[in-house]
Amino acid sequence: MPVQDAQKRREGESRVKPVNYVVNYGAITENCEVSLRNWDEEYKSEEYVFGKEPNAFLVDCLSSVRVGKALCLGEGEGRNAVYLARLGYEVTAVDISPNGLKKAEKLARQNGVLLNTVHADVQDFQIESGAWDLIINFFMHLPTAIRATLHARVVAGLRPGGIYILEGFSPSQSERNGAGPRDPELVLNLEALSTELKGLDLRVAEYKTRLLDERKPELGWISVTRVMGVRPAVD
Ligand SMILES: C[S@@+](CC[C@H](N)C(=O)[O-])C[C@H]1O[C@@H](n2cnc3c(N)ncnc32)[C@H](O)[C@@H]1O
Repeated sequence: MPVQDAQKRREGESRVKPVNYVVNYGAITENCEVSLRNWDEEYKSEEYVFGKEPNAFLVDCLSSVRVGKALCLGEGEGRNAVYLARLGYEVTAVDISPNGLKKAEKLARQNGVLLNTVHADVQDFQIESGAWDLIINFFMHLPTAIRATLHARVVAGLRPGGIYILEGFSPSQSERNGAGPRDPELVLNLEALSTELKGLDLRVAEYKTRLLDERKPELGWISVTRVMGVRPAVD
C-alpha cells in the first residue's frame, strides 16, 4: 500500500473519543486522557523516546515464527512495527497518539518499508477474527477489565497457529526505580494473564529482571512480565 494511502487511512480513522478510565502512575493520579496526551507530548521530540531498535524479547520470540499479517497494539513510535515490516510482515500499527504514529511512519520511510498506521483507542479498534498471524503489545498498560476484554479479542483475532507476544511491567516493579505504573490494576500479573489468555497455549509466561535499555539505562534494572502464546490449530 502506498505510504500516502496509509496516511490517509490514519487521518480517516482519527476521530478518537477520550478514554474512559483512570490510571495511577505513582505520585500522579490522573484521568488517562491526560496521561495519554502526555505520551503524545513526549513523542513531539525529534528523539525516539523508546529508541529505534526492536524490543529484545520480540526478537527472541520471532526466530521460529512464520511471516504474515502482524498487528501492533499501542505501538507508539514504531520500533517494533518497523522491525516486523523489515522481516516481511504486513504490519498494522495502532496507537492513540498521533505524534507517535507520525514518527512510526517516518521510521518506516527511513527503512524503506510501509506500515498501515491507525489512530485509535485499542478499545475501539476492531480486531478482525482469525485474521492475524502475530499480535504484539509492548508496555501498553491498561486497567485490568479493559485489558481482559482486549485479550479476549486478541485471542479471537489470531489465526490458528498465530502468536501473541506481550511485555510490560510486573507487579514487583513498584519496589524498583521510577519507571512504570504503580497501580496494581495496571501491572501485568501472570495469574490474571493466564486466565485472560486461556484460549492460547502459553509457551512463555514469566517474570524477568532486565535492564531498561530502550529508554533510560541509567534507571537500571526493571521487573517485567513476558508472555508468548500460540493459538492452537484446533480450539
Ligand atoms: C510505554 S508506550 C510503548 C510504546 C511501544 N509499544 C514501545 O514499546 O515502543 C505505551 C503506548 O501505548 C499507547 N496507548 C496507551 N493506551 C492506549 C489505548 N487505550 N489505545 C491505543 N494506544 C494506547 C500510548 O500512546 C503509547 O504509545
